[in-house]
Amino acid sequence: MTERTKFLLDESKMPGAWYNINADMPVAPAPVLHPGTLEPVTPDFLAVLFPMSLILQEISTERYIEIPEPVRDVYKLWRPTPFVRARRLELALDTPAHIYFKYEGASPVGSHKPNTAVPQAFFNKQEGTKALTTETGAGQWGSALAMACNFFGMDLEVYMVKESFYQKPYRRIMIESYGATIYPSPSTNTQYGRSLLAGNPDAPGSLGIAISEAVEAAATSGGAKKYSLGSVLNHVLLHQTVIGQEALLQFEMADEYPDVIIGCAGGGSNFAGFTFPFIHKNLTEDKATRVIAAEPAASPSLTKGVYTFDYGDTAQMAPIVKMHTLGHTFIPPGIHAGGLRYHGMSPQVSALVDGGYVEARAVKQLDTFRAALTFLRAEGIIPAPESTHAIKVAIDEALAARESGEKRVIAFNLSGHGHFDMVAYEDYLHGRLEDYEYPAEAVEEALQHLPSVG
Ligand SMILES: Cc1ncc(COP(=O)(O)O)c(C=O)c1O
Repeated sequence: MTERTKFLLDESKMPGAWYNINADMPVAPAPVLHPGTLEPVTPDFLAVLFPMSLILQEISTERYIEIPEPVRDVYKLWRPTPFVRARRLELALDTPAHIYFKYEGASPVGSHKPNTAVPQAFFNKQEGTKALTTETGAGQWGSALAMACNFFGMDLEVYMVKESFYQKPYRRIMIESYGATIYPSPSTNTQYGRSLLAGNPDAPGSLGIAISEAVEAAATSGGAKKYSLGSVLNHVLLHQTVIGQEALLQFEMADEYPDVIIGCAGGGSNFAGFTFPFIHKNLTEDKATRVIAAEPAASPSLTKGVYTFDYGDTAQMAPIVKMHTLGHTFIPPGIHAGGLRYHGMSPQVSALVDGGYVEARAVKQLDTFRAALTFLRAEGIIPAPESTHAIKVAIDEALAARESGEKRVIAFNLSGHGHFDMVAYEDYLHGRLEDYEYPAEAVEEALQHLPSVG
């Protein structure tokens, strides 16, 4: 066993293909339904929003899909990302466990999001799309797609949840610096936004609403604009699998293999990107790594939601998918992990949780920041509030190993840094951060509005 701390791969070791878990999925995928007719969607319907190459990736059952050279060229700006043995955290926790993390905060915008933003911009450009529309919560996804569109010479229109637009101006400025146009959502740009503002001019917005606006802007553009989503969909998760494939090679360098792997889950993309290549080994080789999705107790789709068909957005314009959901009208409490405030979950991750291949754990906001401080004071990196959910579960696993005196190999995905989230840390340090109880009543109400699919 090596004494090294960082396991760095050469650029030549960057994966040449994305891993598609549809090839190994132990449960058959449920159909995607049209939001109006509730019948299975046709490629024609999806083609209004997405280029055909991404639609084909969405339904592909090929195990590996080649990464085009221009995408690899951009990936090389920051990939392969570091894989770190958190030796100082192990010491701080006085645990016999070995703790590793994959650091996706090393990308130019500070998260895993460019892993899919870059190919989405590339495939759109290749098929002649002139402009994209998208939503963003706290701004990680918006800045990733803004960077990617800039690289491929495309326009981008971003609908940013209004509350974040005004409270977190630096991500907005970053998005503008890359050349994109950004609007607070709800906005006056779309019919849906105008209808919400008529009812409440101060509406704070939500991710579900911003998705509706971005979808409407693309769907009514007469083909001029297409829509891009930063999580949830199969092709997005597919692109993220560069993370786990690199981590497998880095584990080889460390001469270890994980007993347990962890990722935070909002829509499921960084979790899937990190864990699916390991799940592949569980499913096809004699590996038995435990896989844990960490989610917020305030927005617990996997641990408290229903596994059923629901709309992906609030205005019922996006396709209906089978997923763990809290109801598309549910607006999660204002936790600082904006990227985890979504009512649903990726259908692939949902199916794996339902089948017992993935465990899910809900954690409370104050506990995640407590864990973040333990981590950052040992390892130096200030994590994104989303990533702190994975850190909390990793620390719990390391403490359980100390309790049982066992050497457990633990790895988590550090999906982003928190340099734009210092207000959240300030609130925590000054005792202003609160825990939200599970909003049972609001969820119960939202679950009344599920589509009635036969
Ligand atoms: C740093 C970071 N981690 C995690 C997430 C959650 O998204 P996903 O579940 O798709 O990885 C986000 C979303 O904005 C994010 O910015």
